[in-house]
Amino acid sequence: MKKTFVPVVIALTVMLMVAGGTFTAQAKDLSGQLEIFSWWAGNEGPALQALIDLYKNRHPKVEVVNATVTGGSGVNAKAVLKTRMLGGEPPDSFQVHAGQELIGTWVKADRMEDLTFLFKEQGWMDVFPKGLVKQIGTETGIWSVPVNIHRSNVIWYIPANLEKWGAKVPGTWAEFFVIASKLKEKGVVPLALAQNWTANHLWESVALASLGAKNWDALWAGELAFDSPEGIAAWELFGKVLAFTNEDASSLSWQQATDMVVDGRAAFNIMGDWAAGYLSTTKKLAAGSGFGWAPSPGTVGGFMFLADSFGLPKGAPNRDNVIAWLALLGSKEGSDAFNPLKGSISARTDANLAKYNDYAKSASADFGSNRIVGSVAHGVTANEGFMNDFASVMEMFLKTRNAAATAKAAQQIAAKNGIGK
Ligand code: GAL
Repeated sequence: MKKTFVPVVIALTVMLMVAGGTFTAQAKDLSGQLEIFSWWAGNEGPALQALIDLYKNRHPKVEVVNATVTGGSGVNAKAVLKTRMLGGEPPDSFQVHAGQELIGTWVKADRMEDLTFLFKEQGWMDVFPKGLVKQIGTETGIWSVPVNIHRSNVIWYIPANLEKWGAKVPGTWAEFFVIASKLKEKGVVPLALAQNWTANHLWESVALASLGAKNWDALWAGELAFDSPEGIAAWELFGKVLAFTNEDASSLSWQQATDMVVDGRAAFNIMGDWAAGYLSTTKKLAAGSGFGWAPSPGTVGGFMFLADSFGLPKGAPNRDNVIAWLALLGSKEGSDAFNPLKGSISARTDANLAKYNDYAKSASADFGSNRIVGSVAHGVTANEGFMNDFASVMEMFLKTRNAAATAKAAQQIAAKNGIGK
């Protein structure tokens, strides 16, 4: 009995591994190093660490170098990455947003390897949504492996605090202004804001509400000018919203703005759903009773998405180790270990939702039913050139509050960086 049982088990295991597409990546006896470059440092780190732990289990002889550069949305990491890439010292694999941050920047500069072979080998062509594969692919290849879907347009709050103040969750900006004035009288900051990239983040939620999904898309397709009346109106609304934010915003990290909400110094915060990761994984609050959420005002039915992904830069020092890393990132096992900690939903269509909290379940339902639009603050709709210039445009608005002049400047940088081309 025993004699036949063992070979049958081995044969079955090999067959399953091949069928699951994991054969190549797992069968090799890998060693050496793997440098992973991202901005998931400190309390943004647990989800990434879960992936690294899985990788170490699969490939115990590989030394994983977790190279992080602190700073939300990659404000500092992206600059370091640029220096390394242009200096011919790419990390083995780096975090990059699906969309124009990847395609319009690193693929355009011919710095990435085509991963179509891996997608085919792993059976991923049927597992990732077609729309997402479009954001990481061109006619000539597929250029990264997505690890998640994040939602940008979410407003966060603490139910018990709102109850204490007798405040409701605003469904529109008009409602927000009424609620916010009352909160201000009580000495509560209506909307917590942090350093400048979070102003970009807030802007896109406000602009989506002001423009609507159709005009938002038209903006990035080059079909609606940034300095059109609609474009200017978005900046005007943004100015009104800013009047209800904290004055020390520029010195705070996004987590510190979230802390203001948790501590009851502020009522709301608009942030991507990595905030759900922070609130549950770090702050240990329960989704629903401990913290609450809603689509940012005026954006019900719209899901502004972004996706983190990792690729294989040309000249990566440890190519085989990277391919094994990417195979793990795209796997169901990797995805369902990473995302419940991160606050995002799986980029795969076959996630095991039992592993996710109520926030993620609601995000998953919305992703399936809402109108999907791309985030600019997190790399979907515009390349890095535009984003660098947009930081200055935002600075200008924060100083001057001049909607028309800022909209004009935005149109200039859109033309300069080939938006819609
Ligand atoms: C985004 C990124 C998220 C999260 C956030 C805050 O750009 O996609 O995963 O890290 O920045 O740092």
